[in-house]
Amino acid sequence: MEFITVEAQYAPYVALIRLNRPKELNALNLQLMGELRDALKALDADDTVRTIVLTGNERAFAAGADIKQMAGKTAIDMLTVDQFSTWDQIKKTKKPLIAAVSGFALGGGCELSMTCDMIVASETAQFGQPEIKIGVMPGAGGTQRLTRAIGKARAMEMVLTGKFISAEEAERFGLVNKVVPVEVYLEEAVKLASTIAQMSPIASQLAKEAVNRSYETHLDEGLHFERKNFYLLFASEDQTEGMNAFVEKRAPEFKGK
Ligand code: CAA
Repeated sequence: MEFITVEAQYAPYVALIRLNRPKELNALNLQLMGELRDALKALDADDTVRTIVLTGNERAFAAGADIKQMAGKTAIDMLTVDQFSTWDQIKKTKKPLIAAVSGFALGGGCELSMTCDMIVASETAQFGQPEIKIGVMPGAGGTQRLTRAIGKARAMEMVLTGKFISAEEAERFGLVNKVVPVEVYLEEAVKLASTIAQMSPIASQLAKEAVNRSYETHLDEGLHFERKNFYLLFASEDQTEGMNAFVEKRAPEFKGK
């Protein structure tokens, strides 16, 4: 594992996965996501693990999908690489998965935190779907999960303007379970995980599945729709311009083409 670390017994029955690309603010490249998928699969099969905490570091949970890796891609490249099949596997994790978020949770980082079952945030956490600023849109569930979590008006504003919300707003809007000081956000997430780990692991897995079923009845259709539109944007000049501008550290000039 190059871009994550895994501690299967961080606390009794609680595993901890840390995203570990600190210089890139834990930008989610294909390798990192593949490692995360494999780690979750292994922990799901490990009888000594009952709940899993996923975290980044104080500055960033994750600042999104890796823009540098995507910048030169065409719509067909994106379709062929099919990065979201990895996300589909992650979503299938049976054991309760808690995100411990500090700092940036943006784009794919916000989407990854929402793919978890609960979020414990530090007071410094910021959530956002800023893809619109680089000429694309959320592609890993943002338009669907954010809308369900915080409602259409707020989600629409975040997705169309790219504005970030604070941890306090995220808690008020129902996106996160709890906001705590940055010094204790991981401890609090592990505490929550430990409480769940004291329950019957079979009951908690089936209960998680049932809660998700109510929440996701039509989610797959929405995700499919979102994915097609996300890929389609890689046929636009604005995607190339938006991502190149980010890499070159300049403001983008969008032309609507
Ligand atoms: N992809 C690749 N590299 C990234 C990155 C990303 N998403 N986010 C940050 N980085 C890199 C920066 O390029 C920079 O690298 P260099 O030092 O080599 O230049 C390093 O991480 C530190 O970042 P900054 O210098 O930009 O730090 P900052 O504190 O000035 O700004 C930030 C922080 C506001 C988070 C800014 O980095 C930023 O806007 N990042 C991009 C956020 C974004 O647009 N995310 C959405 C990605 S698209 C997506 O996720 C699609 C999807 O739905 C799947």
